[in-house]
Amino acid sequence: MPKPYTPNDAWSRKAAAEGYRARSVYKLQELDQKFGLLKKGITVLDLGAAPGSWLQYTRKKIGSGGTCIGIDLQKIAPIDGVDLLYRADITDMDAIRKILTHANRRTVDVVLSDLAPNTSGIKDVDQWKSIELSEAVVAIAEEFLKPNGWCVLKVLRGADFDDFYRTLKAQWKNIKLQHAKASRDRSREIYIVMRKSERGNAVTR
Ligand SMILES: C[S@@+](CC[C@H](N)C(=O)[O-])C[C@H]1O[C@@H](n2cnc3c(N)ncnc32)[C@H](O)[C@@H]1O
Repeated sequence: MPKPYTPNDAWSRKAAAEGYRARSVYKLQELDQKFGLLKKGITVLDLGAAPGSWLQYTRKKIGSGGTCIGIDLQKIAPIDGVDLLYRADITDMDAIRKILTHANRRTVDVVLSDLAPNTSGIKDVDQWKSIELSEAVVAIAEEFLKPNGWCVLKVLRGADFDDFYRTLKAQWKNIKLQHAKASRDRSREIYIVMRKSERGNAVTR
C-alpha cells in the first residue's frame, strides 16, 4: 500500500527549520552537489519556480553577482536578492522571449525546471501533461541556453516517457537520469540532467 501523504515529513521539517519554502529544495541541492550546476556569478532561469525554494537555494549558490529569473503561473512572493520574478505560462514562447528581453538576457547559463502540471488524478493524463511541459522546457533550453549550459527538468515517468527520453538522448551531448532522495517514495518523478554541446546546439551527431 502506498504511504499516506504527510506534509510534515522529515524533509518538510528540515526545510522549515532552514528557512526554505518547500522540501523540493533538497532535490535541487542533491542534483547540484552531484553535477556542479550552480557557480558564482551565473544566470539561472527557473521554470515553475513557485513557491520559491529553488530560487532561495540558487540565490545563495550564485551569490550577489549572479542573476536568478523565476517564472510561474502563480505569484512568487518576494525573495531577498531575486528581483526577476514573473507570472507566465512557460508553454507560451512569446511570453518567455518578452521576459528575457525585460530581464536584459539573450542567453542563460542554467535552465531549471521543477514544473508539475495540475494533476487530474488520471495517471496517463498527468504523465502526458508532464511530457508536454518538458517539451516546452527543452524548446526554451534550445533557444536560450548557452553552449555548455546545464538543463535540469523534472518528468513524471509513464507510458510516453521512453519515447521522450530516447528523442532527447539522440540530441543532447550529456544526458542522465537521476532520482532525488527527497522525492516521495511513491512518486514517479525523475530528473533529467543534460548539458548543451560546446558549439551551442543540442544536436551533436
Ligand atoms: C513543484 S512546484 C515547484 C516548486 C519549486 N521548485 C520550489 O522549490 O519552490 C511546480 C510549479 O510548476 C508550476 N507550473 C505548472 N505548469 C506551469 C506552466 N505551464 N507555466 C508556469 N508554471 C507552471 C506550478 O504553478 C507550480 O508552482
